[in-house]
Amino acid sequence: MRFRDLVDELAARLAGGRVHFGHGMGSAEEEALALANFVCRSGLWQRRSLLGRRVSPAVQERARAIAFARVARRLPLAYLTREAWFGGMRFYVDKRVCIPRSPLAELIEIGFAPWLNPDGARRIIDLCTGSGCIAAACAFAFPDAEVIATDLSPAALSVAERNARRLGLAGRVELRKGDLFAGAQGKFDLIVANPPYVPAGACGSLPREYRHEPRMALAAGADGLAIASRILEEAPRYLAEGGLLALEVGEVAGDLAASHPELPFLWPSLERGGEGVLLLRA
Ligand SMILES: C[S@@+](CC[C@H](N)C(=O)[O-])C[C@H]1O[C@@H](n2cnc3c(N)ncnc32)[C@H](O)[C@@H]1O
Repeated sequence: MRFRDLVDELAARLAGGRVHFGHGMGSAEEEALALANFVCRSGLWQRRSLLGRRVSPAVQERARAIAFARVARRLPLAYLTREAWFGGMRFYVDKRVCIPRSPLAELIEIGFAPWLNPDGARRIIDLCTGSGCIAAACAFAFPDAEVIATDLSPAALSVAERNARRLGLAGRVELRKGDLFAGAQGKFDLIVANPPYVPAGACGSLPREYRHEPRMALAAGADGLAIASRILEEAPRYLAEGGLLALEVGEVAGDLAASHPELPFLWPSLERGGEGVLLLRA
């Protein structure tokens, strides 16, 4: 069997399995390609020369077994392959962390231009770091900055530590267990966060794939605003003059804006899709 036929077969299997795509994959075709690349260890997305390559029966079987588990257990692909891509980098993931997919990646890659002076970003804090993907992407985007990343979950921090080590960032990203800013000292030029923002009552009705993720990574009080509102309240104490707060709040963006009419939020348009990312200048 050739690579292109394996991708077609997997895509048909996923489409027929009526799985939900929402963890960084937009369609059955995209996910099938990611899975085929994973089993072939090619890591080269959508490279034409791969399409005609032969795939051994053993590798085909491995891909089918993963696709079977994906459909039968409605596990997100990333938990089966133990990898997810964010900002062009590969991260180790398992069920201790939610799967990296924040649209913040796009803004990090451009250094938050034009809202942040790139030379002025000396200290950065990533709240609710999970796998550490945002902190790591910031460490690469701002090579001279000190990056601190916090999370309340020790299990998530073990994953973040593993990722920092794999990416050669062990000395660059300082991981701390803490409730949002707890233990943070001084001011930050960039405060970035993708906190939980799902209304607690809505968690049970999410597609099954999301229910494999840690509940504390998703649920945020009755209205989904509990953590984001606390970040807004506490940020002024930690934001440096000329600094920027970048916060993902997804579907509760409208509710958050309505509950803080006094704050001049900026809502950048995102070329790669996604919504609900707000920016606020000091
Ligand atoms: C939506 S996940 C985001 C993970 C990662 N930043 C990303 O973008 O993939 C939210 C994370 O917030 C953490 N968390 C929940 N409540 C917290 C709190 N009060 N303080 C710090 N972290 C918290 C969870 O453990 C989880 O890892």
